[in-house]
Amino acid sequence: MLIFSRPASHLRESAVTPRDLVLSRRTLLAGGAAALAMGTAFPAAAGFGAPTTVKPADAAADTVTPFKSSTTYNNFYEFGPGKSDPSRYANALPLRPWQVVVDGEVAKPATVGIEDLLRFPLEERVYRLRCVEGWSMVIPWTGFALAELLKRVEPTSRAKYVAFQTALDMKTMPGIRYPLLDWPYTEGLRLDEAMHPLAILAVGMYGDPLPPQNGAPIRLVVPWKYGFKSIKSVVRITLVKDQPPTAWNRLQPDEYGFYANVNPDVSHPRWSQATERRVGDFFRRKTLPFNGYGEEVASLYAGMDLRAHY
Ligand code: MTE
Repeated sequence: MLIFSRPASHLRESAVTPRDLVLSRRTLLAGGAAALAMGTAFPAAAGFGAPTTVKPADAAADTVTPFKSSTTYNNFYEFGPGKSDPSRYANALPLRPWQVVVDGEVAKPATVGIEDLLRFPLEERVYRLRCVEGWSMVIPWTGFALAELLKRVEPTSRAKYVAFQTALDMKTMPGIRYPLLDWPYTEGLRLDEAMHPLAILAVGMYGDPLPPQNGAPIRLVVPWKYGFKSIKSVVRITLVKDQPPTAWNRLQPDEYGFYANVNPDVSHPRWSQATERRVGDFFRRKTLPFNGYGEEVASLYAGMDLRAHY
């Protein structure tokens, strides 16, 4: 499979990016005290605000991947197994209307329209993305903390995990005619992982709405995990008691674990994870534990054997 890596840390704003578009902190809407339930709970929105440029302290340390590369070299198997299939076919996926159902072990289940999701406090996060195949990219995402959405539906004390599901559209997704994965594509996180501030729901990249091949209109981005955890074109988020089944893990459990934290010490059966090649670079570089976000997330796994829970 192919996983991809997520640009990592949200790279300190200081350490990252190149062009003028980098860290823009647009805080578009803050959801006010919105009350929950659908209508009012989801504040009213805006659109993408104007990015604020943050000058990188060390632009050479980590350069944002060119837009062309990150939008033409993709994994989105619903549109085919080839890297160029998504950019060729995903345009056909209807992006409006779009709703995300948030249900399961929650006090206030909701069906939230994309317009309301765009009203969450959006900000730009420049993350490294590390694919299990051994390559990585650095992408400026626009999105909001997944925790913001989860808090509004009020998880019950029984909620321990979060299950995610991608849209399934026979008309526009040629890849789902083949049983490569057990469609629809599913993913999952432990609740504390999902509530971590680095985990976001992205609605844009490079300052514009997400291109279809990158998971429009809304996708998950979990920068300390291999790319396959970052499920695209999400239509359902369900809080559950037990660890949910996930697409790649069901297909090849020995290759794709549930946790999938970037770990240079645990090789994938087909690819060493010790080094990676940043798309656009010639030389490989060392892969960092948790994709470089260890300071922020390692405590989530205190006491766990991460070789067993790969
Ligand atoms: N989500 C869905 N629904 N279908 C997929 O095939 N591929 C995953 C992940 N999310 C995938 C998906 C994999 S393997 C990777 S590496 C990343 O998306 C790729 O994201 P990108 O194409 O935006 O770089």
